[in-house]
Amino acid sequence: MNVRFEPAAKLAGALTPPADKSISHRAALLGAMASEPVRIHNYLHAADTNSTLQAVHDLGALVEVHDGEIVMRGTGLRDAHEPEGTIDVGNCGTLLRLLPGWLAAQDGRRFSLDGDESIRRRPVDRVAIPLRLMGAELAETEGRFVPLTISGKRLHSISYELPVASAQVKSCVLLAGLTADGTTTVGEPSLSRDHTERMLLRAGVSIHRHGRHVTVTNTDELVLDEVVVPGDPSSAAFMITAGVLIAGSRLLIKDVSVNWTRTGFLRILRRMQGIVIGEFEEEPGELCGQEPTSDLDVAAGALEGTVVTPEEVPAAIDELPLVALLGCFAEGETIVRGAQELRVKESDRITTVVQGLRGLGADIEATDDGFVVRGSGGLPGGVIDAHGDHRLAMMGAVAGLASREGVQVNGMDCAAVSYPGFERDIRGLLR
Ligand code: S3P
Repeated sequence: MNVRFEPAAKLAGALTPPADKSISHRAALLGAMASEPVRIHNYLHAADTNSTLQAVHDLGALVEVHDGEIVMRGTGLRDAHEPEGTIDVGNCGTLLRLLPGWLAAQDGRRFSLDGDESIRRRPVDRVAIPLRLMGAELAETEGRFVPLTISGKRLHSISYELPVASAQVKSCVLLAGLTADGTTTVGEPSLSRDHTERMLLRAGVSIHRHGRHVTVTNTDELVLDEVVVPGDPSSAAFMITAGVLIAGSRLLIKDVSVNWTRTGFLRILRRMQGIVIGEFEEEPGELCGQEPTSDLDVAAGALEGTVVTPEEVPAAIDELPLVALLGCFAEGETIVRGAQELRVKESDRITTVVQGLRGLGADIEATDDGFVVRGSGGLPGGVIDAHGDHRLAMMGAVAGLASREGVQVNGMDCAAVSYPGFERDIRGLLR
């Protein structure tokens, strides 16, 4: 579907963003691994998180979907059923990387995972490597892609240093550590989102963080009872960007997760002089089971360029396309470094963001691990292709509202991967 977004006069009003995608996936997966029924409030109903619900159903969890709530009865940690066919992860990288951590330990059972065209280009060797060190048996396609076959085995614990910060790989190893003999430790170069750790702590697991390392001790069961999913800061970031860029705008974004590992974008935006007021979580210290939330007040203003360093990347990874867009409107240069992970997202986001914004008139160049944008006082407009990437589609829509002549987004429908009501919500804020 090709959709046009005309320049907006301004945005105003209040919006509650959709439920957090990362936390929804984890709630469904841990719900399936739990021994007692779990109630999940405000689960995200989008293409990606529906893939997770279908997967846990195929693995033997009972899933009842009610208005505003899901009730799930899992199989327990060690009793996932062997499904009849292949588990379809759809477009979902998080499901692809987390699920093997659970399935690799299902002794004596076999599972195969496959997905759409985009997922077939996304590497799975990053989880296969540590899982093999734990004694898992896996067979990838061409050594690093799906279809992936997993033959469940008894696992043993490891200490593993991630070469690149990744919440998906960290979570996979932690989930495998739940059933491995002994104590499993994962270290990462800088802290990535910690929703798995928080939810495991709430589920009664012995899990600790010391600096950049997390240690989990094996357990017999997870007891979770209830999860409340907060608003997704990555979805809210599109509205926040529109509110900051379009003169005269004033927005109230309600009930957003302000977990420190997810608010890197807000810290970068504030450094660019963007006006976002809220109660963000302080530096991450001791691990806690809560997911903090806040309302955010957003207002438009003049922006300055900035440099995003490699250490800042994990906490802002999904919002970096928006940093590129903001850079087009800022005074001076905006540089992102150390973000080579963008190349293995739903599209190669360094290439697709740079080509997409150039097509709208931006002065932007790709580097191996990021991009350099020279602020040019805004964007004329044009046509952008989403390349099947939800975040690119929504970035294009915001670019259109903030542009001088409007933008046509080709392939807008893929926004439904994380934010099915995006177009309705953003148009509802136009004044
Ligand atoms: C996610 C982690 C991130 C992020 C993805 C969701 C998660 O990936 O890009 O959209 O839910 O764990 P990496 O941490 O692997 O980079």
